[in-house]
Amino acid sequence: MSLAFRHAIVVGASSGIGAEIARQLAADGCAVALIGRRADALEKVRAEIAAAGRGSALAQVHDVRDYDAVPALVERLEKSLGGLDLLVYAAGTMYLPAEGEYDFARDRAELEANLLGAMAWTTPVAAMFEARRAGTILGLSSIAGERGRRTFPAYSTSKAGLTTWLEALRNRIARHGVNVVTVKPGFVDTPMTTHVERKPMMISVQKAASLILSAARRGGSPSVFIPSRWWLVAMVLRHMPSRIFRRLDI
Ligand SMILES: NC(=O)c1ccc[n+]([C@@H]2O[C@H](COP(=O)([O-])OP(=O)(O)OC[C@H]3O[C@@H](n4cnc5c(N)ncnc54)[C@H](OP(=O)(O)O)[C@@H]3O)[C@@H](O)[C@H]2O)c1
Repeated sequence: MSLAFRHAIVVGASSGIGAEIARQLAADGCAVALIGRRADALEKVRAEIAAAGRGSALAQVHDVRDYDAVPALVERLEKSLGGLDLLVYAAGTMYLPAEGEYDFARDRAELEANLLGAMAWTTPVAAMFEARRAGTILGLSSIAGERGRRTFPAYSTSKAGLTTWLEALRNRIARHGVNVVTVKPGFVDTPMTTHVERKPMMISVQKAASLILSAARRGGSPSVFIPSRWWLVAMVLRHMPSRIFRRLDI
């Protein structure tokens, strides 16, 4: 069985993986709501989808840290799209502090966008999907959430939290026929990774979006690494003693 998505909200659709997921969903005939802060970047993705002549897209400027606005926005977007069967949470930032730099304001902003924003968006959608006993919630976590990383501490903390949140959500609503999909990509070639020096096994954004959507279409609430070979890396990282992991420059 392969799920066909017809009405989707993609949060974080103005660039990178979210934008490409939106393009690929539209190419498959889906109506997509594109969410992000930058109106010009959203409009560019919307226009590309319109020009491709398949599916459709509407753009909505929104900062995911405006948590209180989300329930009404979900209702309004669902009406505009004509339904909702998929929520993709792809919004995120990654800040790499310099050696010796400690900045709570930046760490907090990262947790707010990567974790609290995801909780704010998935909560009303989970309630809606549970009542209907159908729907898919897809969250972009990361291999970075497997351990506390010295190179991006707040980012790895936010992704560990997001992975746990999505697992908890899955454990609550999979029994009601709702799929909760956690994807944990390794390095993907997007604006987010431009400033990362070493990017082993990096894949294109097109490949990443295609693998992510394949996992979602399979249904069954999977938690998967993108591409799957990162699973082995994750196993090694997870079982590495802290005193050894600490010495690695990752
Ligand atoms: N690239 C990788 O190697 C990689 C690996 C693992 C996981 N991921 C995850 O995949 C997701 C997408 O990353 P990407 O590589 O595609 O990065 P990207 O190109 O920088 O895209 C990030 C998206 O998040 C949106 N966003 C950030 N803060 C937001 C806010 N406060 N409110 C609303 N939207 C916000 C951005 O839109 P605006 O700027 O317009 O607001 C943009 O659309 C992220 O969650 C990232 O952690 C990426």
